[in-house]
Amino acid sequence: MQAKAREVYVPPVLQDLRAGTAELHIALEKRLPFFSDTLDTQAFVQLMQAYYGFYQPLEQALLDSGAIPDDFDLMPRLKAATLRADLQALGASATTPPLCQELPLIDSSAASLGVLYVLEGATLGGQILRREIAARLNLDADNGAAFLDIYGAATGRRWRDFIEYLGSRPFDATERAAVVSAAQTTFACFEQWLERQEVLA
Ligand code: HEM
Repeated sequence: MQAKAREVYVPPVLQDLRAGTAELHIALEKRLPFFSDTLDTQAFVQLMQAYYGFYQPLEQALLDSGAIPDDFDLMPRLKAATLRADLQALGASATTPPLCQELPLIDSSAASLGVLYVLEGATLGGQILRREIAARLNLDADNGAAFLDIYGAATGRRWRDFIEYLGSRPFDATERAAVVSAAQTTFACFEQWLERQEVLA
């Protein structure tokens, strides 16, 4: 008898997010230099400085927005401090890197969750990037690449918790559209920022 594949329920908001951002993800992934033959430690430092320059002001904007739902625990999901510590471990903390000013608008809880979908989802790819950077540059959580393994063994569980939270919110169609739009803008702003910092292929 053939075993029936376990059917996993995908909430409508997640279906919309996936449909609305898949192409943006592929395009950005292609341009990121993690797998480039020319990536050396110096280029990695520049890349992580550019990441910090986006995550720091975006997380600050999330904190300042007043739009995070009361029952969502943002603090344990903030990542800029880890990036900062990585830069310090890499010996690149003397100057504050430039910070991105063109950020997605966070004017509703729906928008805040769209932004968070992108930042949380990036931890999944991080698990692949972490292995690549350890093999290629000998960097790991202790010497400058903690960001790529920020949730460690809890990565899968924390993603599922986030998705479950998202799926439990009663979004109407307008709010769902706002979640997707914020996620799309987050991808677009990040790519444009990385481009301006000249760290993309
Ligand atoms: C070269 C760089 C990257 C690689 C190789 C990569 C790879 C991946 C992989 C393999 C997954 C699926 C994981 C799974 O289903 O278990 C994933 C999911 C995701 N990634 Fe990336 N990623 C990269 C960069 C990024 C960046 C920079 C962002 C955003 C800033 C991002 C956002 C997301 C999101 C939102 C998801 C969740 C999609 C979903 O299941 O709904 N990724 N990534």
